[in-house]
Amino acid sequence: MADAKIGFYYKNVCEDVIGEEHGITPQQFDEMAQETAAATEEVNRHREEGLIPYRDLPYNEAYPKQVKEAAKAICGSCENFVVLGIGGSALGNIALQTALNPYLYNLDPKQRKGPRLFVFDNVDPMQFGSFLDWIGGGLDKTIFNVISKSGRTAETAAQFLIIRQMLLDRLGPEGYKKQIVATTDAQAGTLRTITDAAGFHSLEVPDGVGGRFSVLSPVGLLSAAVCGIDIDALLAGARAMDRRVSEGDFFANPAAVNAAIQVHYYYRGKPISVMMPYSYALKDLSDWYRQLWAESLGKCRDLDGREVFVGPTPVKALGTTDQHSQVQLYREGPNDKVYTFLQTEHFGRDLEIGSCPPEAPELGYLAGSGMGKLLNSEKLATEYALVKDRRPCLTVLFDRICPETIGQFIYLYEVTTSIAGVLFHINAYDQPAVELGKEATFALMGRAGYEELAEKIKPFTCPDQKFVI
Ligand code: PA5
Repeated sequence: MADAKIGFYYKNVCEDVIGEEHGITPQQFDEMAQETAAATEEVNRHREEGLIPYRDLPYNEAYPKQVKEAAKAICGSCENFVVLGIGGSALGNIALQTALNPYLYNLDPKQRKGPRLFVFDNVDPMQFGSFLDWIGGGLDKTIFNVISKSGRTAETAAQFLIIRQMLLDRLGPEGYKKQIVATTDAQAGTLRTITDAAGFHSLEVPDGVGGRFSVLSPVGLLSAAVCGIDIDALLAGARAMDRRVSEGDFFANPAAVNAAIQVHYYYRGKPISVMMPYSYALKDLSDWYRQLWAESLGKCRDLDGREVFVGPTPVKALGTTDQHSQVQLYREGPNDKVYTFLQTEHFGRDLEIGSCPPEAPELGYLAGSGMGKLLNSEKLATEYALVKDRRPCLTVLFDRICPETIGQFIYLYEVTTSIAGVLFHINAYDQPAVELGKEATFALMGRAGYEELAEKIKPFTCPDQKFVI
């Protein structure tokens, strides 16, 4: 599948398709091309200066080697592989698994090439408790991959401490050590300290790569490799896209055109960006994109320190499911969104729709048709309907869903985000606003050093009954 590609189709944002009020004119495209070519050059320069090391992950030879070695060792005796992580330490893992393994991978041994995979990115006692009840005596056949760059993230730390206690109680110190693989900073941080003390096998979260840009590092690669995904092909796909998104010619560069269109619409009354895959396999890529887009581009200050409160709102939807939930709003509600469909030309398989009963001849149009044809027809129908109502639509078209095209997609959106960051004139690589919530959690949970903050939060801990109805 080395030649499988993704394409980026943008005709349905043009003025001659959706009209002057909402469409982009050739002249506007030319202006966008100038500004965005400069932004692309700046991103390429940042890469050369070593400021955005995520760009070089597809070329790193050590990581896939380490990951494959670890995966081989794990696969021998492991029936369940459990990722404990959150945000950038979980969403890429989930997206790869949904995209590249069968829907019933966990349930049906015939459909899987590795252990079952569970990714826990929350601290919900009902959810985690149910898993612990199920895993019961199978702890010695379960590997826990704790992923945290900092190691101080409360959610991951809490999950880890529960598992640590269980492993120590049931399997003793040797068993505890054997069942955990840590993916964390190579030098510093709480999880690194614990890992070194306990002697866990560990992999590295690369320096200078934020969680949301880390899926092509050991953070995302280990669970993929363990579950039989071809990580070499995934990285080859990313490298193929690298050539396209480094391109100085604006109209030949899908990341530049995508970023330019998204930023253009943001400033033109369309601050909402909907991603709507027409394939269940691609569903969790839109969740991954949501974090990438929101944490990278939602910023209150620009690079000169001016207050800007900028950031398009990413929304995920799923075709056809959300046609019966969201499309009424998308067509008749405010024209404040840009839509990106994800579509695959070929499905890995197709199902023929059965013949229709004689008492329901009105269903005859479906009989004998492929289910994939119906899904793609519904995508086109929705796009047609939106375009008719002058809503701008983009499509990322996959030849087929395979590691190469998923690698291309990931890299396309990472670089789109970097270019959009330059166009918005903000720092796309930090997430300062996430910090206060993390610190407030520390204060509420009684962590030493957060007493002053705990005092400030007090009014929030006892609701004012006057306002409770
Ligand atoms: O993108 C990011 O940087 C965040 O989403 C982090 O991945 C998330 O907060 C988890 O952080 P850590 O890996 O330090 O536990």
